[in-house]
Amino acid sequence: MRLETLFLVAAPAAAAPSYLTWMADSWIVNNHEQEGPYWYGRATIYKGYEAAYALYGNETLLSWYRSQIDDVVVAPDGSIVDFNETYYSLDDYRIGNNILYWYERTREKKYRLAADRIRAMLDRHPRTETGGFWHRQPDYPHQMWLDGIFMADVFYAKWTALFDGRNQTAWEDIVLQWDKIEAVTRDPGGTGLLVHGFDESKRAVWADPETGASPLVWNRALGWYFVSLVEVLDIYPKDLPGYKRLLGYYTRLAGAIRRAQASETNGWYLILSKEYVGAEGNYFESSAAAMFTYGWLAGLRRGYLDEETFAGPAAKAYRHLIDEFVTHNRNGTLTWEGTVQVGSLNSDASFEYYTSIPVVPHDTRGVGPFLLASYEWELRRERL
Ligand SMILES: *[C@@H]1O[C@H](CO)[C@@H](O)[C@H](O)[C@H]1NC(C)=O
Ligand SMILES: *[C@@H]1O[C@H](CO)[C@@H](O)[C@H](O)[C@H]1NC(C)=O
Ligand SMILES: *[C@@H]1O[C@H](CO)[C@@H](O)[C@H](O)[C@H]1NC(C)=O
Ligand SMILES: *[C@@H]1O[C@H](CO)[C@@H](O)[C@H](O)[C@H]1NC(C)=O
Repeated sequence: MRLETLFLVAAPAAAAPSYLTWMADSWIVNNHEQEGPYWYGRATIYKGYEAAYALYGNETLLSWYRSQIDDVVVAPDGSIVDFNETYYSLDDYRIGNNILYWYERTREKKYRLAADRIRAMLDRHPRTETGGFWHRQPDYPHQMWLDGIFMADVFYAKWTALFDGRNQTAWEDIVLQWDKIEAVTRDPGGTGLLVHGFDESKRAVWADPETGASPLVWNRALGWYFVSLVEVLDIYPKDLPGYKRLLGYYTRLAGAIRRAQASETNGWYLILSKEYVGAEGNYFESSAAAMFTYGWLAGLRRGYLDEETFAGPAAKAYRHLIDEFVTHNRNGTLTWEGTVQVGSLNSDASFEYYTSIPVVPHDTRGVGPFLLASYEWELRRERL
């Protein structure tokens, strides 16, 4: 018998569970430590706690979250603990979004100072010849990855909106990052999806000699990118020309993701390039499924997508998350399963490489997006 059935029977009459708070609580209770305090995985899961607080007003969760930032990330003088300000890696900038969340909540100066430090790094961050941020110096010179857009450029937009909103040069520089990655990474297989990244110098082992693009569509990178579009559209000034382009990128990708949703499970393969769909070794992965589901539900609520086309697939996708990736433990906690640990262009970017990476439970990069998808789902349930 499915444990979920037991739980629903035991739960208060007719109350549908909030997977948002249940999973948020579970992750804390089971205490899954992962990497450093300002690591992007943590930054990702913290956004889920912001969502839980926004919907349920749970002060316990909020103060837990604040302690994570105050105890080990932002020092009282506004410096960032153990943060190397000459190590230019886009992944490390993602925490800037959470720092700005705390700035907006409290207006405390230390958060502003800490965010300014990350913003200043963007001014010094090495770029490709045509203005794209390198994914990381020195490891990934001249390379842009879809992941990096989520890691750095939403923060850039958010900081600009708060402190430099009328700076048109900045807004153009921001949308340039999305424009550049869209221009080079479109899947040559015609799916409408985007491949993982590109090397403008075309020197990487995986770089296409003509375009510099990497060969395959890796679901998580695409998930980061889809979420970045939802986030930037909330921030980018609607009266600037870049806004329409960003909205176009979002809606086109939302449609391509629908065409890539597997009919047999309502989920998505790890590698979404056509030639590998259904291939041995390919599998339905959880973090990207959560990001795609979140991205759709967020777009529906904001009116970017039409209900008729997307509400059904989004509902099936959310069901897929619950059925396939949420384990109900006997001690009453939940475990999130099925997240691929990494995928990096420090490899040969082959199918064999991506599918050789372990799949792990409790991973922040899956749990965080699941919290966000649950936020949108539960908000929708309340409204209907
Ligand atoms: C609030 O969060 C705490 C800690 O995560 C949890 O124990 C409690 O059940 C939550 N309360 C509500 C009303 O969700
Ligand atoms: C609850 O059960 C899960 C699965 O067995 C385990 O990983 C977790 O540590 C348990 N949590 C607590 C607080 O005992
Ligand atoms: C900071 O990063 C730079 C660039 O990678 C490196 O040269 C330097 O040694 C690092 N500093 C510390 C204190 O780790
Ligand atoms: C506007 O933004 C650009 C790009 O971010 C920055 O280099 C420049 O200093 C800003 N201008 C002003 C007046 O702040």
